[in-house]
Amino acid sequence: MVDIRGDVDLESPNAARMYDYYLGGKAHLSVDQEAAERQLAVIPSTREWARANRSFLRRAVRYLAGQGIDQFLDLGSGIPTVGNVHEVAHELNPRARVAYVDFEPVAVAHARYLLGDDPRVTVTQADIRDPQQVLAAPGVAGLLDFTRPVGVLAVAILHFVADSDDPAGVVAGYRDACVPGSHLAVSHLSRVTFTDEQLAHGHAIYSRTSTPGTLRSREEIAALLTGYQLVDPGLVLLPQWRPEEPVDDALAASTNSYAGVGALLPG
Ligand SMILES: C[S@@+](CC[C@H](N)C(=O)[O-])C[C@H]1O[C@@H](n2cnc3c(N)ncnc32)[C@H](O)[C@@H]1O
Repeated sequence: MVDIRGDVDLESPNAARMYDYYLGGKAHLSVDQEAAERQLAVIPSTREWARANRSFLRRAVRYLAGQGIDQFLDLGSGIPTVGNVHEVAHELNPRARVAYVDFEPVAVAHARYLLGDDPRVTVTQADIRDPQQVLAAPGVAGLLDFTRPVGVLAVAILHFVADSDDPAGVVAGYRDACVPGSHLAVSHLSRVTFTDEQLAHGHAIYSRTSTPGTLRSREEIAALLTGYQLVDPGLVLLPQWRPEEPVDDALAASTNSYAGVGALLPG
């Protein structure tokens, strides 16, 4: 049984649980399903976006593991679903360590239930907007060795950090804790094909959650990767980042997201 401690808001939809619904999971409430269905009615590509985003996450982790990264900090890790970071990383390196961080109680409870007592993986309930608190948490500081390269994953999370919460400062907090050779993987919602109506509708739905979204331009997303050298193919539409099969351009644009991976430069 999943033991949910902490404050679960049963009245309001929640982004983590709506994402679980898009992906066909079971860890959502009826309030999440209703909100997700209203989102899908106006933005039907949301489900494809969620799948494409998970696929990017898996490709990025495989890439990083291939570069010798054996420790991961997954910011806004979400409710566990198929192809979790530790599963993908352990396929390539069974000794890899993964610290999951999310502030949503259902996501944290499910992750803890799934993981049991695997000493290579931790789950921390914390707000990623406070890097010092996250980095000092026992599940992070006690698992990851920041004197060696770390793969920081900020996948479909930074659009939940409002401009007023200084997303560049948040990213810098993690960057400054990492040594050169560390990497940052980012995916981020952007306006590519969204109509005004879709944008207004999406904002209205997510403003009822605790995490209203902030879409950013490709240039604004690139700026969040300051200090990192983007690896090929750079910051591209989500499905176009090192795809494993041919990608349809229209489908790629319909994800309204950019993705990239950067390597931390010395100095
Ligand atoms: C769309 S899901 C992405 C999950 C996963 N990273 C992925 O890409 O598949 C966004 C997650 O970020 C979490 N989240 C949003 N804002 C957060 C914050 N300030 N601190 C911690 N987690 C946050 C939500 O609870 C949710 O689980």
